[in-house]
Amino acid sequence: MQKSLEEIQEELKKVLKRKRYQHTVGVRYTAQAMAMCFDEDIEKAGYAGMLHDCAKYLSDEEMLVECRKHHIVCSDTEKIRPSLLHAKLGACYAKEFYGVEDDQVLSGIRWHTTGKPGMSNFEKIIFIADYIEPGRKMIPGMEEIRRAAFCNLDEAMFLILENTLSYLEDTSKSRKDMIDSYTEDAYDFYKELRRRRKGA
Ligand SMILES: [Fe+2]
Ligand SMILES: [Fe+2]
Repeated sequence: MQKSLEEIQEELKKVLKRKRYQHTVGVRYTAQAMAMCFDEDIEKAGYAGMLHDCAKYLSDEEMLVECRKHHIVCSDTEKIRPSLLHAKLGACYAKEFYGVEDDQVLSGIRWHTTGKPGMSNFEKIIFIADYIEPGRKMIPGMEEIRRAAFCNLDEAMFLILENTLSYLEDTSKSRKDMIDSYTEDAYDFYKELRRRRKGA
């Protein structure tokens, strides 16, 4: 049976580090506010926001072991950057430890890290809320992204993916190995949508 949001919050407070827990609560409320704005289910947005990083307390090695145990297939990029796996594993834990069966909540958790082309509004909300919650440090472009998050979800997706890819390109030695193909495909998808929107 699905645990209540308050019960889950109490449990996560015990397993997550203080900063991660505070981030989690920030994502919960940001996702709920965005759900109000875009007519999505506010309660489900609370669950997905609350649980999106529920597997993030594991080390890289533990992450790989847990994925093997739960028969989660890992891509080459995920083998190099196991932290990416907390999204797949998070959806799995949400089901197993917190009793979440709802597909919308589970896919919100599943896609919150890489994004993908053609996301639902609910998935976009969790992805964006993760990036903009009030505790996130101010980075160039954040004001614009926060504004877009409550006006145009596709524009916010484009801006975040653009920022993420340029950050990974700046910090990665080998771009090909470090960037998940879903993120690249998502960027191309939301860039094309934007081009059409602007009529260019
Ligand atoms: Fe995450
Ligand atoms: Fe997060």
